[in-house]
Amino acid sequence: MAVIELAGIERIFHLGDSVVHALTHLDVGIEAGEYVAIMGPSGSGKSTLLNLLGLLDRPDAGSYRLEGRDVTTLSPDEQAAVRSQRIGFVFQSFHLVPRLTAAENIGLPMMLAGIPAAERARRVTQALKDFGLDQRADHRPDQLSGGQRQRVAIARATIMQPAVLLADEPTGNLDRATGEDVIHLLEVLNQRGMTLIVVTHDPKIGTRARRQLLMEDGELRHDSAAVHLRSVDDNPPGPLSGKGGDDVSPAAPALGERSAPSSTA
Ligand SMILES: Nc1ncnc2c1ncn2[C@@H]1O[C@H](COP(=O)(O)OP(=O)(O)OP(=O)(O)O)[C@@H](O)[C@H]1O
Ligand SMILES: [Mg+2]
Repeated sequence: MAVIELAGIERIFHLGDSVVHALTHLDVGIEAGEYVAIMGPSGSGKSTLLNLLGLLDRPDAGSYRLEGRDVTTLSPDEQAAVRSQRIGFVFQSFHLVPRLTAAENIGLPMMLAGIPAAERARRVTQALKDFGLDQRADHRPDQLSGGQRQRVAIARATIMQPAVLLADEPTGNLDRATGEDVIHLLEVLNQRGMTLIVVTHDPKIGTRARRQLLMEDGELRHDSAAVHLRSVDDNPPGPLSGKGGDDVSPAAPALGERSAPSSTA
């Protein structure tokens, strides 16, 4: 089943006299359970695309179907409900609430969704354990390492068990080893069935995904799955394609497996 279907998406920004076509003629479908990397130069429209997918922004034209439902025509409140229940978002700079502890940050989406306190506490405890954060439950973000902050952010993004997890440069503020831990975590979540879409500048990370989308000047220039792209023959596969995530273990390991050691650092 297609979890995401974009058709004829356009996003135009007007800034003074200048007009930026941040996204042009975008048609793309993503199946449930896919692992997709979005790549391309700075300014090519990657974040604009991810923000649209996350219902943080609206297109100027075109339709977006999420799990078969047209979400472009929903009211802001309806979109907020879909975002809360079906979409998880992870940012480069974590976006944690500074005054809340790790446990409170993770529990926040459930609080906003009105889930009873006992159930929230149970799920937060489990998430802290799963993400190797049980020793850091009462730490505020400024008392956590970058990798720990991103793990809190991922726990928060997935605590409502969304259908789709969107990550915009999730390793951009982390050193390579910590970044790899974070990617590994995201991949485990994908192996458990969550559709994963990662924007990255890092070709090493991009080639781990099973599918690569290459953006350029607001257009989808290459799709390694090709079936969703009309003019793919004009753009022969570049160095992005051909690796296909073979290094990812098919057996889903425990979430905290690799990240646990750094939690005691
Ligand atoms: N709110 C906005 N107002 C005006 N122009 C914008 C806005 N957001 C994005 N743009 C423009 O749209 C284009 C695409 O921006 P976007 O942030 O999607 O790029 P990106 O591929 O994510 O780049 P980067 O790799 O640097 O993060 C850019 O030219 C940018 O300047
Ligand atoms: Mg960006």
